[in-house]
Amino acid sequence: MNIVLGITGGIAAYKTPELVRRLRGRGADVQIVMTASAEEFVTATALQAVSGRPVRSNLWDQKAEAAMGHIELARWADVVLIAPATAEIMARLAGGAAPDLLTTLCLATEAKIAIAPAMNHVMWSNPAVQSNRELLEERGIMILGPEHGSQACGETGAGRMLEPDDIAAAVCAADLGGNATAGLLAGRTVLVTAGPTREPIDPVRYITNRSSGKMGYAMARAAAAQGARVVLISGPVNLEDPHGVEVHRVETAEQMHVETHRNISEVDIFIGAAAVSDYRPTETAPQKIKKQEETMTLKLIRSEDILASVARLDHAPFTVGFAAETENVRDYARGKLEDKRLDMIVANRVGDDCGFDHDDNTVDVLWPNGEKAFPMTAKSELAHTLIELIAERFESMRGDDTQPELSVISARD
Ligand code: C5P
Repeated sequence: MNIVLGITGGIAAYKTPELVRRLRGRGADVQIVMTASAEEFVTATALQAVSGRPVRSNLWDQKAEAAMGHIELARWADVVLIAPATAEIMARLAGGAAPDLLTTLCLATEAKIAIAPAMNHVMWSNPAVQSNRELLEERGIMILGPEHGSQACGETGAGRMLEPDDIAAAVCAADLGGNATAGLLAGRTVLVTAGPTREPIDPVRYITNRSSGKMGYAMARAAAAQGARVVLISGPVNLEDPHGVEVHRVETAEQMHVETHRNISEVDIFIGAAAVSDYRPTETAPQKIKKQEETMTLKLIRSEDILASVARLDHAPFTVGFAAETENVRDYARGKLEDKRLDMIVANRVGDDCGFDHDDNTVDVLWPNGEKAFPMTAKSELAHTLIELIAERFESMRGDDTQPELSVISARD
């Protein structure tokens, strides 16, 4: 897939080297075209390094035009993606103006155009910008985002550029009329549980844990990026809904269990990344418990193991568990793989430098007859690698399914 990535002058341009990496990670060739104002926010040197191609910015650059003229470039593109797209570029596109290389390309191309707007939320809600958005949409331009959230200007509202991963996922998964790769999980449904659960003691207190949900959310994004339909069942976390993912919010382990089984029938791959509370109070007090005695005892009861209950189903999906351990990580994880009858387990050590609430993670992945170690990596990066491995193991097990007797033995015992 050939992508012309147009970068315009908004602060979100600082995220574009990451976007280029995400697009290339999905097999796309990326040619960058920057506007003059984009150069104020991100350097051509960085973009050239990550894209592996000289950056284009000037319509009148004779040397660059001799190598690949702007009309040739317009034909080369399967998709023209503009990220970030400012209010200015939207107005230029709406008006058909072509004062620079990027806008000229947009007029000269027959490729699909996608834009990821990014601007202050008041600008985004301005009627002029909204009427340009409508016009561009009517003309078939794909509008990706923006998201609601905190903005570089310090305010909060709708106008944040989608995360690079979400943009890359949307561009690569959408049928854009080019040679878009559908992804390793196209046509599959993946269900992910993420975050902690909250088990109420009384109306104001609960038992919970330190899970941030980051790893589960990263897994959901990465699965969506590989073309899967993704359902994310999330405990209470402070994270934005991943773009293109169906999010169901729950609080307690029991609700997560019910919601999982309500959605499990069409699922091909189940990823249990939630830190489900193992115990819950046997009773929830209807009123706030008053302090009286010097000590008090809470009676707890075991929660149902959601992951094991899914793996036990007659037509169980491919089940992947997570195991957070503070010691003997691989031994405990292999024990869980076997006890819960999983197809794969991702084991990570939790400590001061990794695991809960950190952006980085280092894991060992184990399956019935193999294992692989992954060094410390950002959770979002690691999630992509894990999803690739899951897709590979899932496909190889499906291959085994053509010999049913053997597969049951090799996969489960
Ligand atoms: O046994 P342990 O809690 O360490 O296993 C962790 C794995 O099991 C995780 O994948 C977690 O999401 C899942 N789990 C679950 N339901 C529970 C407890 C754990 O799905 N009640």
